[in-house]
Amino acid sequence: MILYLAPLQGYTESYFRNAYSEYFDCFHSAIAPFIPSGHGDTIKKSRIRDLLPENNHKMPVDPQVIGKYAPEFIPLAKHLYEYGYKTLNINMGCPVSSIAQKMRGSGILPYPEMVEMLLEKLILETPNEISLKMRLGFFKKQEIKDLLPIINRFPIKELIIHPRLGSQMYTGTPDLDAFEWCLKNTKIPIIYSGDIYNKESLTKLQKRFPKQDKWMIGRGVIYDLFLPTTLKQGTLTDAEKVDLFGKFHQSLFQGVIAYRNRPKNQLNKMKEYWGYFSRQFENHQAVHYNITHCNSLEEFEEKSRQILQDEVWRKVPLFDRIMSE
Ligand SMILES: Cc1cc2nc3c(=O)[nH]c(=O)nc-3n(C[C@H](O)[C@H](O)[C@H](O)COP(=O)(O)O)c2cc1C
Repeated sequence: MILYLAPLQGYTESYFRNAYSEYFDCFHSAIAPFIPSGHGDTIKKSRIRDLLPENNHKMPVDPQVIGKYAPEFIPLAKHLYEYGYKTLNINMGCPVSSIAQKMRGSGILPYPEMVEMLLEKLILETPNEISLKMRLGFFKKQEIKDLLPIINRFPIKELIIHPRLGSQMYTGTPDLDAFEWCLKNTKIPIIYSGDIYNKESLTKLQKRFPKQDKWMIGRGVIYDLFLPTTLKQGTLTDAEKVDLFGKFHQSLFQGVIAYRNRPKNQLNKMKEYWGYFSRQFENHQAVHYNITHCNSLEEFEEKSRQILQDEVWRKVPLFDRIMSE
C-alpha cells in the first residue's frame, strides 16, 4: 500500500510537510497545494516559495499548477524543472466557483478540446513529466467518459482521481462505480483520493478495489495526524500520541513562525489547524475554545502545552466539521 499526502491549500504547505515528515514517515510523497499560473516569463520567488528547496526538507513533493492555457504554465514548468521538480501536476479538480467559472480546476473538465490542446502543448514544450489530479467532471460524470479516451493518448505519468463532481464541492459521497469505470478504461497508473478518514473507510475501498494500492489522504490526516500510521503500522498508545504530537506540533509552530511574517498571522494559522486538531480530544469544545481565545503566541504555546498534558484523546477523532476549499 502506498500513501500520498493530498494538497490542501492552507494546510499542507511546506511547514506542515516538513514537520510531518520529521516525525511520521508513512507518506511516500505529496502533491503541493496549487500555484496559480500566470502570464509572462518572470517567476517571482514569492509565487513558488512553498516549493523552494530551502523550504522543503524531507518529504518528496510534486508541484501543482492551475490554469487553462499552456502558455500560462510553460515558463513556470521550466522554472520548476530547473529547481529539480521533474513532474508537474495539473489541477483539474478545484471546485471553487470563482476558479471553475474561468474554466480552471474542475471547470475545464466539460471542455475536452481545451484539455487536449493544453496537454498537447505541455507535453511538447515542457521538459516535465505531467500528472493530473481531477474530479469526474464539473456537471456530470459523462465528462470523464469523454475525457479519458483523450487523456489516454498522452504519456501521462499518473492520474489522481477524486471521484466527485466539481458542482458537488464536498457533499455526497465519492462515486465508486465511476472510479471503477476509470480503472477499467485506462492504463495510466491511478491514485484514489477521497474520504479516507479511518481504517474502515480504507478497508471498504480495498475490498472493492483489491488491485488498487495507491491511496491519497487529505482531510483525514489533518483531523487525525496518526491516521497514516494507524493504516500502515497499527494503533498508537496515548503516551506515544502525546509524545509524537508534542514534537510534531512544536516543529509545525516553528515552521509557521519562520514562514509567516506577523505574529497575528502566525497565531491565526495555528488556530486554523486547531479547528481540526481539537477533534482528537474528548473535551474538544473546551480545547477549541481555549485555543481560539488565545491573544498572543506566548499564550498559545502555554495553552497548547497544557492541553497535551491534561486532555484525554478520543479513541476515534470527530469528523463533525466539513473542511472545504
Ligand atoms: C481546504 C482544502 C484545500 C484543497 N486544496 C487543494 C489543492 O490545492 N489542490 C488540489 O488538487 N486539491 C485540493 N483539495 C482537494 C484534496 O486534495 C482532496 O482531493 C479532497 O479533499 C478529497 O480527499 P480527502 O477526502 O482525503 O480530503 C483541497 C481540499 C480542501 C478541503
